[in-house]
Amino acid sequence: MIAAMIVLGIETSCDETGLALYHSERGLIGQVLYSQVALHASYGGVVPELASRDHIRKIIPLTEKLLTESGIGRDQLDAVAYTAGPGLMGALLVGATFGRTLAWALGVPALGVHHMEAHLLAPLLGASPPSLPFVALLVSGGHTQLMLAHDVGQYEMLGESRDDAAGEAFDKAAKMLDLGYPGGPRIAAAAQSGTPKRFRFPRPMTDRPGLEFSFSGLKTFTLNTIAANRPLSEQDVADVAHAFEEAVVDTLFIKCRRALQQTGVRTLVMAGGVAANSKLRERLQKDLDAAVHYAEPALCTDNGAMIAYAGALRLEAGQREALHIETRARWPMTELQGLAS
Ligand code: KG4
Ligand code: ZN
Repeated sequence: MIAAMIVLGIETSCDETGLALYHSERGLIGQVLYSQVALHASYGGVVPELASRDHIRKIIPLTEKLLTESGIGRDQLDAVAYTAGPGLMGALLVGATFGRTLAWALGVPALGVHHMEAHLLAPLLGASPPSLPFVALLVSGGHTQLMLAHDVGQYEMLGESRDDAAGEAFDKAAKMLDLGYPGGPRIAAAAQSGTPKRFRFPRPMTDRPGLEFSFSGLKTFTLNTIAANRPLSEQDVADVAHAFEEAVVDTLFIKCRRALQQTGVRTLVMAGGVAANSKLRERLQKDLDAAVHYAEPALCTDNGAMIAYAGALRLEAGQREALHIETRARWPMTELQGLAS
């Protein structure tokens, strides 16, 4: 029998310093998350250099807090997993350097984890995990992708965004409406008091075959709608937010339905920050002829738990990082290795 293992997961790819401990038998046994939202808010988006510096400030105290709160000693760690990409290079390097060095000092293996694979695997941490193969809708601040997950590490790209990611579109629309950053949750909150059907926004690329996305046209449409209705009342803002959210949700729904039809797969997993959107969750759950799985909202946005879990799966399969530290700002998920290889 393989002994139980404890993996420390470290996430620093963007504006969240997230750490967690995953126990191979007990599941998640501790989590800490520090969000830099307040630091970047006045700039209307993430400032990469500020993000790196703040990760440096927080990473050691947060690791100590996590270990203390979980009652786990450093010597009990069996491996350290860190996000190796994709993400902001400077931010990635902080977690990678710290994680690789800690693993070396403790004499345990290190694992460089793919951030989007970790998002994709996060729903497997839930009480009724999906079984593979499944179609995955990955929707975050930097990615909008439909993947066919044959197995862990074996991913086939079905379609992705040609321009902005869905989360990025939320963030930009929120900025235009002066709702602040991060945009997704702000748009969702404003949309709740929106008047249905007052505005109708386009559903980009749904009128032609294929599984590609494009969200940059929605941005222009939002800008034009705002310009045509200036000065905006609070109700106008809510109505634009409502129409925008509905257009994104509808577009994602249409493409997911198409991906399921095309592959014949009956399980859909949604992951990444935008998967925290409750309208999107409801719509896919209600209207897709498939079992729809998603992680709890806190595990949809960036966190250390998904990194610890993805690392644990690869550790169990015998994978290890060499001593050099490699991070990648861009990293296609289709280049990953399966667990058996
Ligand atoms: O996965 P994530 O935390 O970070 C990246 O890997 O990018 O995703 C962040 C994105 C942001 O664009 C944010 O606006 C969006 O996810 N987001 C949401 C919601 N919560 C976060 N978008 C729509 N509705 C939400 N409730
Ligand atoms: Zn993410």
